[in-house]
Amino acid sequence: MNELDALVAGARESFALAATPADLENAKARYLGKTGRITELMKGLAALSVAEKKTHGAAINLAKQAIEDALGNRRQALADAELETQLKAEALDVTLPGRQRGQGGLHPVSLTLERIEAIFCSQGFEVAEGPEIESDWFNFTALNTPEDHPARSMHDTFYVEGGSEKAPNLLRTHTSPMQIRHAVQHVKCYRAALDAGLSMPEIRVIAPGRTYRVDSDATHSPMFHQCEGLWIGENVSFKDLKVVFTDFCRTFFESEDLVLRFRPSFFPFTEPSAEIDIQFQRGPMAGRWLEVAGSGQVHPNVVRNMGLDPERYIGFAFGMGPDRLTMLRYGVNDLRLFFDGDVRFLSQFR
Ligand code: PHE
Repeated sequence: MNELDALVAGARESFALAATPADLENAKARYLGKTGRITELMKGLAALSVAEKKTHGAAINLAKQAIEDALGNRRQALADAELETQLKAEALDVTLPGRQRGQGGLHPVSLTLERIEAIFCSQGFEVAEGPEIESDWFNFTALNTPEDHPARSMHDTFYVEGGSEKAPNLLRTHTSPMQIRHAVQHVKCYRAALDAGLSMPEIRVIAPGRTYRVDSDATHSPMFHQCEGLWIGENVSFKDLKVVFTDFCRTFFESEDLVLRFRPSFFPFTEPSAEIDIQFQRGPMAGRWLEVAGSGQVHPNVVRNMGLDPERYIGFAFGMGPDRLTMLRYGVNDLRLFFDGDVRFLSQFR
């Protein structure tokens, strides 16, 4: 092997040994740098004859070319290796299972409320909401409830701070105060027409929401839900109540042969009054009467408190229990399950 071949072989070997780009550049300097072996050989040509310059020069150039090629290859190899490690470090395994996000859902009672609203809206009812902290006036007095009515006693009603001693504030015991609140707003809009002896559009509204009573067992919770219904016009009768409510129950339970019973009852704000019972003809509850709502023709005193003339305006109201409807619809027998907040139970209704 002549000297140049040995030089090229040596260069190839030291390039191969260079593990990093910096090592490689140092190795390059030993051959191609200002004082490198190739550069020295080039300088040595000056002392040779013209003929020798030609042959030696060509041989040196070939060796230089071979070293530069080796350098370029090694540079490329080091760069490829670096990219490879980087890609490996950032590798994304698309076959790994994804991180699961908890999927939420509506509470079963909320599902019932949405269903109630959808059905009554399709019958031309509006949906109204009102405060859960009420005054004695809206919750009792305006609804024709006598001073000594047992519902006013501490046993049934949660009283809260505020209001006066004679008319304390309370957590509403039912959604019936919304009868007055909504009707008063409605009547206010049409006051001028009414004063001129013209008629107003009918009041047709449902008012769902939370209600409170001092009561707690498998079928009663201190916080529960009600949905009030009110329809007032010049010619609205008990017959309309039967039609509307029967339609509602059959749609809600998807049961065309569901039977309703209006059982005489008493409420201070309706006269006559009735409890509404339903009976399934099929399924596990078939043949039993199940109470789902209180109802009645709105009492003249209540119509008056709405700002209307009871001689001219008449209608019906009802108040039902969405919690009860939810229990019946899903076959749940303990109301407290709905409010314990146990996701294992609640997630079944998603
Ligand atoms: N507010 C009554 C209750 O809570 C239900 C009801 C509403 C009865 C409307 C008649 C009319 O029991």
